[in-house]
Amino acid sequence: MNSAQPWPGVIRRYASFLPVTAETPVVTLLEGNTPLIPVPAFVSAIGGRFDLRLKYEAMNPTCSFKDRGMTMAITKARERGAKVVVCASTGNTSASAAAYAARAGLKCVVLLPKGKIAMGKLSQALLYGATTVSIEGNFDDALRIVRELGEAGQVEVVNSVNPVRIEGQKTAAFEICDALGDAPDFHFLPVGNAGNITAYWKGFREYAEAGLSDTLPKMMGWQAAGAAPLVLGHPVANPETVATAIRIGNPASWQGAVEAARDSGGSIRSVTDDEILHAYKLLARTEGIMVEPACAAPLAGLIQSIAAGEIPDGALVTATMTGHGLKDPDTAIRVAGFEPHIVPASKEAVMAVMGL
Ligand code: F0G
Repeated sequence: MNSAQPWPGVIRRYASFLPVTAETPVVTLLEGNTPLIPVPAFVSAIGGRFDLRLKYEAMNPTCSFKDRGMTMAITKARERGAKVVVCASTGNTSASAAAYAARAGLKCVVLLPKGKIAMGKLSQALLYGATTVSIEGNFDDALRIVRELGEAGQVEVVNSVNPVRIEGQKTAAFEICDALGDAPDFHFLPVGNAGNITAYWKGFREYAEAGLSDTLPKMMGWQAAGAAPLVLGHPVANPETVATAIRIGNPASWQGAVEAARDSGGSIRSVTDDEILHAYKLLARTEGIMVEPACAAPLAGLIQSIAAGEIPDGALVTATMTGHGLKDPDTAIRVAGFEPHIVPASKEAVMAVMGL
């Protein structure tokens, strides 16, 4: 598009690829158009010899990739005349649903696993005014209840079981191709409920079919070891991981994820919480980029892939950083490994801390 025109949000930018018409009442916070940041110092710190670019989805209006799907879901809910939207969430979907529902004047109800939501995400849902329900169970329990509510027919479900969510989220793959002039060789991303890997693969394929890119990337999805149903091949009853965003035992888009990995020649594998936290801190310290822990799963995965000799020298690799580090300040402070120095209010005291 003409760079002199202001960014119109993902629906208007990619309307020809989306189930909308000129009459669709678009609800947007001008999401999308997020940066693709080169991270050479991180690559060299992990011993790689390739070009890595991070799709920094933290720059969306509610600071996660969910806004791409939510602009579609809330737009379609409004088009259909829905009054109430509902979702289950590990936090980011609820923040996004609450924001876009507020923008559209719809009532929003979010179901969250009790005690397992990062503080930033909870603060968003509450401030945007969503009716916030803590379920004494995990995400999978919450999604089961949401599906039941959807079947009863009085509410619009805005989880990625709603296919328009996937449609919106595929625009991130379009943006990557637009920025690079073609698809990358590999695309790395975290996998939880598996909507996003499904969406990216759909986006990369549609762009190639439309002649807007020539190649397709290998899709490399990463789960947390304690919540890795797609790696194990069966649901996990009690998923656990420090990366609460992907603490999911029975992903809704199971089939889509398996197909993305298989058809692209990629894979879905797992990394431990220690590996996740190592990569999380390393990215912050080498590049000054703060992401939430789930985003570090594919970064830890890259370290595994380098060790396995899977990434050729000079390859072009992209990875989605799905959410902002400020979503989860508790983990950041814990992992940082030190606390502020408390000193008297004098130059001498500060110089002593500096070792001067
Ligand atoms: N990264 C972050 C930061 C997420 O919030 C999520 C999912 C994922 C990765 C995984 O994406 O589910 O499409 O495979 N969060 C959902 C939520 C489950 O409720 O916010 P996925």
